[in-house]
Amino acid sequence: MNIILLGPPGAGKGTQADLLEQEFKLAHISTGDMLRNEMAEGTPLGLKVKSIVESGQFVSDEVMIDLIKSRTLKADCAQGFILDGFPRTESQAEALDVMLQERGVKIDAVILIEVDAEQIVARLASRRAPDGSRRADDEPETVRRRIQVYKDQTAPILPYYENAGRLRRVDGMQSLEAVHASIVAALGLDK
Ligand code: AP5
Repeated sequence: MNIILLGPPGAGKGTQADLLEQEFKLAHISTGDMLRNEMAEGTPLGLKVKSIVESGQFVSDEVMIDLIKSRTLKADCAQGFILDGFPRTESQAEALDVMLQERGVKIDAVILIEVDAEQIVARLASRRAPDGSRRADDEPETVRRRIQVYKDQTAPILPYYENAGRLRRVDGMQSLEAVHASIVAALGLDK
C-alpha cells in the first residue's frame, strides 16, 4: 500500500506515519527529515537549503522531486511507502503522478489530517527533539509563516486529489490514538 499524508505543519503527519510504519511495515519517507539530515551532515544540499528550511519557506520543486525520485527507488519501498511532506505544490503533485505512472506504481490513498492554526502553534511551541533541542522553524512567528505557505502553496493541491475522489479527510484534533484509528479506518485496514 502506498499512502500520501497531507496536512498543515504540526498536523501530526510524522507522528502518524511512524505509527503506520510500525503497524504495516511501510517505508516512512519524510522529506523534512531528509532535508534536516542533509543539514546536520553539512552536505552541499544541506548547506543550500538550510536558510530556506529554517525560515519556513519551501525548497525548490526541482530539488524535492529529484529527492523523491531516488528515495522511492530504494528497496524498502517495494512493500509500500508513506509520503510525509510530499507533494506540497501543484508541480510536485503532477511530477509524482507522472513518475509513478512511468513506474507502474499507484497511490492507494491520500489522507488529509486537519488541525486548526491555534492548535498547530501550541503543539509546535512545545515540541522538542529527543535531545531536548527545538527545531529552528518551530518559533511561533516562523510557524505562522509555514501555515501561510501551506495555505498558499499546498492547499491548492487538495482539489487535485479531491476531484479525483482520492482524498480522505481525518480529524487531527483528536488524541494520537484516535487519529491513528481514523486513518486506519479511512484506509480500510480496520476490518
Ligand atoms: P516538515 O518536516 O515536513 O514539516 P511540516 O510539514 O511543517 O510538518 P512538521 O514536521 O512540523 O509536523 P507534522 O505534521 O509532521 O507533525 P508532527 O507529527 O511532528 O518540513 C520542514 C521544512 O522542510 C518545510 O517547511 C520546507 O522548508 C522543507 N520541505 C519539506 N518537504 C518539502 C517539499 N515537499 N517541498 C518544499 N519544501 C519542503 O506533530 C507535531 C507535534 O504535535 C509533535 O510534538 C507531536 O507530538 C504533536 N502531536 C501530533 N499529533 C498530536 C495529537 N493528535 N494530539 C496532540 N499532539 C499531537
